Amino acid sequence: MDTDLIKLVNKLQDTFNNLGGELDMPQLVVVGSQSAGKSSVLETIVGRDFLPRGQGIVTRRPLVLQLIHTPESTDPSPSSPTFREWAQFLHIDKKFSDFNDIRKEIEQETFRVAGQNKGVSKLPISLRIYSPDVLDLTLVDLPGLTKIPVGDQPSDIERQIRNLVLDYITKPNSVILSVSPANVDLANSESLKLARQVDPQGRRTIGVLTKLDLMDAGTNALDILTGRVYPLKLGFIGVVNRSQQDINGEKSMDAALASETEFFKNHPAYRNIAHKNGTKYLARTLNQVLMNHIRDKLPDMKARLNTLMGQAQQELNSFGDSESFGDQVQQGALILRLMTQFARDFVASIEGTKIDVS
Ligand code: GDP
Ligand code: NA
Ligand code: MG
Repeated sequence: MDTDLIKLVNKLQDTFNNLGGELDMPQLVVVGSQSAGKSSVLETIVGRDFLPRGQGIVTRRPLVLQLIHTPESTDPSPSSPTFREWAQFLHIDKKFSDFNDIRKEIEQETFRVAGQNKGVSKLPISLRIYSPDVLDLTLVDLPGLTKIPVGDQPSDIERQIRNLVLDYITKPNSVILSVSPANVDLANSESLKLARQVDPQGRRTIGVLTKLDLMDAGTNALDILTGRVYPLKLGFIGVVNRSQQDINGEKSMDAALASETEFFKNHPAYRNIAHKNGTKYLARTLNQVLMNHIRDKLPDMKARLNTLMGQAQQELNSFGDSESFGDQVQQGALILRLMTQFARDFVASIEGTKIDVS
């Protein structure tokens, strides 16, 4: 998978941000009932152990996670040792290289803002992970949909979490990962109900079916996974995450992925669709969806870029030759040069890039 286009768009986004503009980019948002396996799914997509997971309400603030692909052997800062991959939060000026420390920091930050006793806060935790092993993606982990208030939760917790989720998934350019556990009837899936509310055609919703390993003996989810139960353009993808016992026993990510692959290959019902299920296939699908999303935005972005460039040119002209505006002229010229460069790269990418849909 070619990530050059995404990188270019990221650069473009930074340029817009520097100019006080905004480039609305897609985000992948995880939605599901409590303990459906949302955080587990995100973790396996990232390929690192770093999210708090477990029974009950563990995720109590939105986590906006930006994955940033870096080339091998990038030195984050000249004065510190070279990390192959590292992470940085918005709320603390510190580079994390140990993923266990990242989890602890997420837990502490959750406690600090959302309290000790199951409270939920809208205030997101912002985390960037830099690694040679990740695709460039922004993912959002959210508290689970719930019915009954527990602990310090207010009586309208159901509505609060629902609104929080809606804040993220209503944006037309969010891609919804609707996570449902396979051991609960899909007709009861709260996440699918919410997703349908904002995406009635099922165009930007990917169904993720977790806990296939926990289905009752003699039952399977073949009908759901092959799209015969619930229509989603992007389909349903089955996954098997680590069980609580696996987490307690510190089963590694690699071991978990290997067991997952074995599960699909050896299961009599899923053998024939094994190549279209599992975490790796989910990650590939997500990247494809993101590329298509960006491709759809290209004409609009091109138009906005032209407008901004026109404005910059005009401003530059209006400075004239006046001495006192020397600094501003320089700044304006710099911006214009930057934008011209980006525009050139950008147009080249629109015209030169073929996005394969395999
Ligand atoms: P969240 O509340 O939706 O974020 O769910 P978590 O990722 O925290 O997972 C909740 C619990 O379900 C944890 O104990 C996980 O180990 C377990 N779990 C998640 N997915 C699976 C799965 O596919 N199979 C099994 N056996 N357990 C899972
Ligand atoms: Na949970
Ligand atoms: Mg969670």
